[in-house]
Amino acid sequence: MDLLIKEVHVIDPKNKVDSVLDVSIRKGKIAELKKGLEANGSAIIQGKALHLLPGLIDLHVHFREPGFEQKETIVSGAHAALKGGVTAVVTMPNTNPPCDHQSVIDNIIRKAREVPLHIFPSGTISKERAGKELSEMADLKRAGIWAVSDDGNWVEDSLLMRRAMDYAAMLDLLVITHAEDHRLRASGVMNEGLMSTKLGLHGMPNACEDIAVLRDVELARLTGARLHVAHLSTKGALEIVRRAKKEGLAVTCEVTPHHFSLTDELLVHYDTNFKMHPPLRTEEDRAALIEGFRDGTVDAIATDHAPHTEEEKMQEFQDAPPGVIGLETSLAVSLTELYHKKVISLGELVKKMSWRPAEILKLPAGFGEIKVGKSASLALVDLNHEWVVQKEGFISKSKNSCFIGKKLKGRVLATVCDSKLWKWEK
Ligand code: DOR
Repeated sequence: MDLLIKEVHVIDPKNKVDSVLDVSIRKGKIAELKKGLEANGSAIIQGKALHLLPGLIDLHVHFREPGFEQKETIVSGAHAALKGGVTAVVTMPNTNPPCDHQSVIDNIIRKAREVPLHIFPSGTISKERAGKELSEMADLKRAGIWAVSDDGNWVEDSLLMRRAMDYAAMLDLLVITHAEDHRLRASGVMNEGLMSTKLGLHGMPNACEDIAVLRDVELARLTGARLHVAHLSTKGALEIVRRAKKEGLAVTCEVTPHHFSLTDELLVHYDTNFKMHPPLRTEEDRAALIEGFRDGTVDAIATDHAPHTEEEKMQEFQDAPPGVIGLETSLAVSLTELYHKKVISLGELVKKMSWRPAEILKLPAGFGEIKVGKSASLALVDLNHEWVVQKEGFISKSKNSCFIGKKLKGRVLATVCDSKLWKWEK
């Protein structure tokens, strides 16, 4: 459908656009971008007092298909993404069967073509994510992957990871590391510290992550591979990434909305919606992440959208699966915690949720920007709309959000992805 968004404040950090304009969308592409445009038959949306952002790009989601369709499917995940203003995602490979074979990727790509979202699958680093034998990375790349990761698992064998990075560098694939030393994590189910002692739960120390990030950064140095640290959560790991960047290494990182806004203090009620890997850390870590946003060490905001059923999450804390959903709240949490609290500017925030992820993934031009002639992926946002997150409000198949009951400021009102428009109820 053709569309004219009138008098909307366009924010496109890539093209340095920060002004009130009319935006004309024809045949799924941005046709014109200037003041005083005529509708000429297009449907009109009044954008006064609203902001128009490039469709958000989430580098880290679990759509659970194939294998765990009771938690999420490509279709349900796509709609949750669109509701959050997200128009492109990287799906993680811990499906069943895992994305370690061309046929699994073929299947995902076939299904992804039927949904109105841009889906960029990742493939596994090792067969079955078991850390023993490398996946056929070249075949997976031919099938259409954009990155490799054993997400959920760290590749413990340093030689295997070195070989993986050698191949990834050769194939120009992004290596996404789930940096967590499992031996050191042992039976830990939450952050190790005062809170784990108080609650009588086994903890996992920050060192689990710091050690893993340090090793992977050194392997990036050795191999020249592009390394992306997923869901970074500790002060130490952030410092390692900061140093690596100063040294000019191709190392980037993402931080989730839950890690930059919440701490392990919230586990007092043993609510499994606060259980995830890596775990919520201390205020000292959270403050360090905020500083990482300020000084630019944090490249991207990604959700690690990890749906699990209510039955699974109802188990005892130590038995419940780790993970929380995030697609429908990521922009609102980021606006509330980073923009409204003046940690970073709106332009910087939008960059970390669109243009920078596009750069990290080496997506074609048009992703992460609002440009005449390029396809229209857009999020129409009311920056000041206040709302309380309700369990019933989620359209994801799973409801395991750690933000239920939280008051947020900022809401996606409509999403455009190519030639389709969704209007969301407040
Ligand atoms: O909490 C998590 N859940 N962290 C991960 O890395 C994996 C994810 C999942 O797949 O549920």
